[in-house]
Amino acid sequence: MAINNWYKDKVFYQIWPRSFKDGNGDGMGDLYGVYEKLDYIKSLGCDGIWFSPLYPSPGIDCGYDISDYMNIAEEFGGMDAFKKVLDGAHERGMKVIMDLVVNHTSDQHEWFQKSRRRIEPYTDYYIWRPAKPNGKLPNNWDSLFEGKAWTWDEMRGEYYMHLFAIQQADLNMDNPLVREEVKKILRFWLDMGVDGFREDVITFISKPEGLPDDKLMPASKGIFMFNHGPHLHEYLEEFHRDVFSKYDCMTLAESPLVTPKKALEYIDENNNPVLDMFIQFETQEADSFMTDYYHMPFNLRKLKRSYTKWQEKLDGKGWNMLYIENHDHPRMVSRYGSERFQKESGKMLAVSYLFQKGTPFIYQGQEIGMTNWYPSDPEMYEDVQTRWQYFNVATKKSPEKRLKRLWDGSRDSARTPVQWSAEENAGFTTGTPWFYINENYKDINVADQEKDENSVLNFYRRAIKLRKELSSVKNGNYKEHGKMSSSFYTYSREDDREKLLIVCSFTEKTKKWSVPSGFDLASAELLLSNYDKLDGTTLKPYETRVYRWVK
Ligand code: NOJ
Repeated sequence: MAINNWYKDKVFYQIWPRSFKDGNGDGMGDLYGVYEKLDYIKSLGCDGIWFSPLYPSPGIDCGYDISDYMNIAEEFGGMDAFKKVLDGAHERGMKVIMDLVVNHTSDQHEWFQKSRRRIEPYTDYYIWRPAKPNGKLPNNWDSLFEGKAWTWDEMRGEYYMHLFAIQQADLNMDNPLVREEVKKILRFWLDMGVDGFREDVITFISKPEGLPDDKLMPASKGIFMFNHGPHLHEYLEEFHRDVFSKYDCMTLAESPLVTPKKALEYIDENNNPVLDMFIQFETQEADSFMTDYYHMPFNLRKLKRSYTKWQEKLDGKGWNMLYIENHDHPRMVSRYGSERFQKESGKMLAVSYLFQKGTPFIYQGQEIGMTNWYPSDPEMYEDVQTRWQYFNVATKKSPEKRLKRLWDGSRDSARTPVQWSAEENAGFTTGTPWFYINENYKDINVADQEKDENSVLNFYRRAIKLRKELSSVKNGNYKEHGKMSSSFYTYSREDDREKLLIVCSFTEKTKKWSVPSGFDLASAELLLSNYDKLDGTTLKPYETRVYRWVK
């Protein structure tokens, strides 16, 4: 656990390395590029960085298929470049957390290669099963990326489990030797000075005894069985006891389908927590069902219910991780905001979560309001999950409808390179970019926004600065107002020194906002807003305001 809970005062910036900034001209983002941009990240007011995987990997799932846990990929600059970035971040007062991906490894990892050959002690490092006598798969679970969760390995003469891509073999965490390997990895990075981990689908690591069939779910079979499995708490406790408790580090667990109640089993500060925070998925589901590919019209009340539920249920017990974007979901301006009002809605979305209680994370490019990407050809997509969705799911629909599903749901929309300038390749690389650049880079880019006082970028800076200055944001009471409104999200924060009222309009219409009772705007100080001129309590499209009363 982090001493003094330092993570509670931080604002993190997430780097998805391939698309952040290329520093050596080979077309791929790298740590040289990150080093160049450390001051930029700091200038946002961010004082923490989460790196999506930097380790050697065949790249089937853009680095989430790791083939060597104790190294940095050459394409990102190798270990020397990493150490330079780590030192550079620390010198600037920024913490650095790594991605810990131990539900699975790449099938190219040495452990897997030895396991399939039954070389000890690796024989039971993975989840191997013989075919059933009737030739059927060991169970009926689905992979979350492509097809079923089992692939036959000729060499071993057995099936192995993979909850994600075929090349991402699930580790057998029930094997104590595997848990020792995980601890070795953790100590390796913590001893080097890393400040913690974001733990990839960590709630999947304990599978139920006997791997029974899923008889309930029509799709995503198995998810309720392997998520929060029987020994999860025990294993996390072990990692905590043997490693984390000995370092001043933080842990952030990713968990699809987690509820506040479940999360508290692990993060309740009054009850021997084994983790610091959770990445929950509910705030991503206000325009979809279960996955981003099952797209529905955006429903503000759904979003508000989730925001408020997490604020209230964790209050006084656990700490929220706050985010609206990451590398796994399309861009928010295009989803909960509006591309037509890119600037206004980009700013409003920032306010919708930055003044909540918790530790905010900002995903690269979010701070300039980057939007979704609309390729004309499905072949342009790179992501393994996206490609499966197009070529294997909903195949009866017309090609246009199937392409539209990807526009709405693909993670690749958040993976186009960061738009640094209006120059060639958006200033991302001097070489040939590894991936497509969003065509709107001439209109949306960092360099132009640096020069514009009213840009989304400078708005983020102001919002983060305020967040850090205002005592009520860290620990004040949270209350939602006007819950029934399907246009406005209104919340207040209050401590013994001040009271804040925050309003976010989620509509393209100009509409009257009813100020909650007990808040007299005439005596309030307006701290932040995304329009120059205010029109009483009539809010313009995607308008947002932050008011304060000092006690
Ligand atoms: C969650 C990660 O965020 C995602 O990018 C990855 O594909 C899966 N876990 C599998 O590791």
